[in-house]
Order: sequence, then C-alpha cells, then structure tokens
Amino acid sequence: MIPFLDLGAAYRELRTEIDAAIHRVLDSGWYILGPEVDAFEAGWAAWCEADHAVGVANGLDALILALRALDIGSGDEVIVQSNTYIATWLAVTAVGARPVPVEPDAATHNIDPARIAAAITPATRALLPVHLYGQPADLDPILALARQHGLAVIEDAAQAHGARYKGRRIGAHGDVVCWSFYPGKNLGALGDGGAVTTNRADLADRIRVLRNYGSRVKYVNEVQGVNSRLDPIQAAVLRAKLPHLDAWTDRRRAIAADYAEGLRDSGLILPHVPDWADPVWHLFVVRSPDRDGLQKRLAEAGVGTLIHYPIPPHMQAAYADLDLAPDALPLARDLAGEVLSLPMGPQLPLADAARVIEAVRAAT
Ligand SMILES: Cc1ncc(COP(=O)(O)O)c(C=O)c1O
Repeated sequence: MIPFLDLGAAYRELRTEIDAAIHRVLDSGWYILGPEVDAFEAGWAAWCEADHAVGVANGLDALILALRALDIGSGDEVIVQSNTYIATWLAVTAVGARPVPVEPDAATHNIDPARIAAAITPATRALLPVHLYGQPADLDPILALARQHGLAVIEDAAQAHGARYKGRRIGAHGDVVCWSFYPGKNLGALGDGGAVTTNRADLADRIRVLRNYGSRVKYVNEVQGVNSRLDPIQAAVLRAKLPHLDAWTDRRRAIAADYAEGLRDSGLILPHVPDWADPVWHLFVVRSPDRDGLQKRLAEAGVGTLIHYPIPPHMQAAYADLDLAPDALPLARDLAGEVLSLPMGPQLPLADAARVIEAVRAAT
C-alpha cells in the first residue's frame, strides 16, 4: 500500500533533532511565546525573504488577523478564489466581510487575474489570492490591480512554503502573507501552527498585539485581541525542520518531474507550470472526467489519493446564506468533480512514485 502521505515519516527522519528541540522547551520552563517563538519568527522571516514574521495559532487565524490588521470588516468585500480550501472564505466571513469569488485559470488552478477587475466594487478592500497546491499565483497583475484600485493584497500561502514568483520567494510580495504549519503542509508542525510574513512594520506590529489579547504589556489591553499564539513547542519543532525544507522541496520536485514525465501521454490533464513559477508541489493534482473511477481503481491497486477539494466553498451548507447556485461558479464546480491528488511528500521513495505511475497508467 502506498499512502497518500505518511505523516510520521518526517518525524522519523529527524527524530533526534525534533526530540531535542521539544525537550529544550520542556526544560526551559517557558511555555507561551518567548525565545523559541522569537527565534522561529526571525528564521522564518529570513527564509521567506520578508522583513517580519509573526507566529500565530494556525493558518485560519493568520488570515483572520491579517484582515483585522487591515481594518477589514462589516460592509467590506474581499475578492477570493472560487476553488480554494474553505479557510480562505471562512477568514473573510469571520471578520464580518463578504467573500466575492473569482474563478481560477483552469490551467494553473490559481485565481485568474483577468477576471478580477469585473468583481471589484466600491466596497472591495482587498484581494486574497491563494498559492494553491504550492504553485504561486500570478502576482504582478494582481498587485497592479490592487495599486490601481487602492486595495490590499493578502496572500494565502498555506500550501506554498518556499515557492518563488519570478525568482523571489513568496513571503512579502503583497501586503501580508499567511502561512499554515498544519502537520501535512510542506513545513508542518506536530500540531497546529501558523504565521504571517510582511514587509510592513505597521501590520506586523498590529498582528503581534492582536494575537496576544490586544496586549503589548501584560494586563494592558490596547485593542480587543484574541489568544492566537504560536506554541513554543511547535516553534521549536519548526526550527528543527526548517534547515531541511529546501532539500525536502527538491525531493518533491523530483517526484513531480517523474510524474510529469511518466504520465505525459496518460490522457490525464497534468499540472501546468508557467515559466515564471517555481512551485513547491504541496500537491500533485491531475484532472480526469472519470476521477471517481480512477480513484477507486487506484485504491484497489494500493495507491492512496485524496481530493482537494470535493465541494467548493460556494456549494457548502456553510455558505447557503450567500445564495450562490452551483453554476454561479462553474469552474470551481467542475474542478471539484475532476481533480485528484497523487501521493506526494519528501519521504515518498522514488520507487513508490514509479509504482504510482504504473498504477495510474493501468487505471486510465
Ligand atoms: C489554502 C489554505 N488556506 C488556509 C488553510 C488554513 O490553515 P490551518 O489549517 O492551519 O488553519 C489551509 C490549510 O488547512 C489551506 O490549505
């Protein structure tokens, strides 16, 4: 059996370093924020080529706090992509704003910049592109539109640790970039974790205060903040993993290259990588009109796959109040019925990737 992802494999590879990092925190007696979180924030900012990083509890909170730091709330609209993980939309509605969905480019699965202008209204405050599946969104036209209309750009980089757009790391192209360290992410904690990175000192400062009860000085509360702090044990685990992330991305790239070559004439629609994009292959997503049949045959052949995502946000009961018919966003609806994610991860042996290729070829 080849699992979609063996979550314990990264821990087993780095067991000594991770165990030492955890014990360092246990011995320190410092269990909220403090030196481990500070050190991870400094390392993460540098790695992302950004001036500031602020650790928070998870990726959803990173998005919510980014929106709050920009004073986005009730009466405001935020442009989101239609085929994202629901967290992108949940952040917008959590602050009381309205998500205005825009369809993706069918080739890249990322928001189609050419469709954004038509969705901008006087209430629009921000554009919220997602670097879906680890492939950077086409940021230059998005940033140009934002400048032209006076909008903020918040990037959802939950799947894009280390990806580059036109040679520069994702981390501070837009106003604020939101990260998740959910265990299955390219840089994953052993529990929940998240961060924002930015070159804007004002936003870093506001998020730093918001994440900690609105407080800079203990028991002095400047604003109505929340408790959304990166846990020091998770920060220590992330610090242990970060030096390995580039090598892990290279292993993902080798698997993606083998998949692309081995499945070239399989009849499946394979990921398209624009020449300005340097993706990090959080997921390797193929498309097939017979997706469900393919997934079933692969399961019978011992190959685990997942669907990212089977129901787009506008078709979820959670968003029934937006009153968006399935066909209001036909691309999001169709992609949800056709996408399939093949096994992918830095600890997936290339020999297993070769078996996946054989199984997919036999199943198509
Ligand atoms: C695109 C996207 N945005 C946001 C999130 C939210 O991150 P978290 O699970 O850490 O809250 C995730 C991952 O779960 C994601 O894939």
